[in-house]
Formats: sequence, C-alpha cells, structure tokens
Amino acid sequence: MAAKELFKIHEVIKFPDPVLARPAAPITVFDSALRTLVGDMFESMYAAQGIGLAAPQISISQRLTVIDVSFKKNPKDKLVLINPEIVETKGKQTEEEGCLSLPDIREKVHRAAWVKVKAQDEHGAWFEVEGEELLARALLHEIDHLNGILFIDRISRLKRELVLMKIRKMQKNGEW
Ligand code: NI
Repeated sequence: MAAKELFKIHEVIKFPDPVLARPAAPITVFDSALRTLVGDMFESMYAAQGIGLAAPQISISQRLTVIDVSFKKNPKDKLVLINPEIVETKGKQTEEEGCLSLPDIREKVHRAAWVKVKAQDEHGAWFEVEGEELLARALLHEIDHLNGILFIDRISRLKRELVLMKIRKMQKNGEW
C-alpha cells in the first residue's frame, strides 16, 4: 500500500459551524500524533483543492495550519505553522480571496502586502517565515482562522450581508 493511502482525509467544516468562530488553543505537545495530523492536514487540503488549511476547519480547535501556495509544485512551499504569531507587516494589497469553509464565495479583501511570521514546526522548534503577495495573504488568512476570524469578517457590512444571503439561499437549495 502506498504511504499516501495511510493518511486520513478529513472533511472540511463549513461556515457557520461555531468551531470556525472560536479562538483555537495553543499546541503544547509535539508528538508523533501531531506529525500524523500534519500529514493528514496536507492530504485533506490537497483533496479539497486548497492552498491553506487551519486545524479548526477540520473541527480541531488547535493552533496549527498548513500552507502550500504552489499546490504540490514546489516542495519548499510546504509550510507547517504551529502556534504562529505575526511579527511584522508592511504595505497593502487588495485581492479576491476564497476559503474552503466558504465554497463558491469570493470577495476582495484588504491585507498587508508583506508579513513576517514566527511559528513552531512539528518538533516544537521556532522559526520565522516571510511572505509577500499570495503567501502573505495565505499566512494572514490562516492565522485569522486560528483566531476565529473568516475573510467575510474583513469585508464591508453590506458585502457581508449579500454573502450571507447567498449562503442562506444555497442552504435552502441543499447546495451548502
Ligand atoms: Ni480559509
């Protein structure tokens, strides 16, 4: 059996599940179960065609996120961030954003153009990562998830209302 088949693909939880609105708890134990979870998260993210996934999105309210802005093309782009913290931001960018927990919803979101983040790896060692453009956006979006914030919390009230109406309609039609 190929190693890949050993990973567990988790279902991605959709808005408005309360786990998505709850600040996640810090991770304190860096054991083999955590490393298995990290592998599961990458496979779950790829299965859902995403470039970022935060643990609360699979109902695990812990401060862990995985990112791969190249979607498997460049192994160096695979990032595991545990207990991440924003160290510094610079500039501004406004681009369309989506989220696996909000399928078919895309809105323009203001973000910093550059960010420096510190985080722990799956063995507990602290490291820093800097990102601009798409990577900055992904880092900020995923750290938001760990604080119970979704990208629709960062758009205007009017746009948010329209998004909520669209979701309610999809729910009614059994499309959500
Ligand atoms: Ni998201």
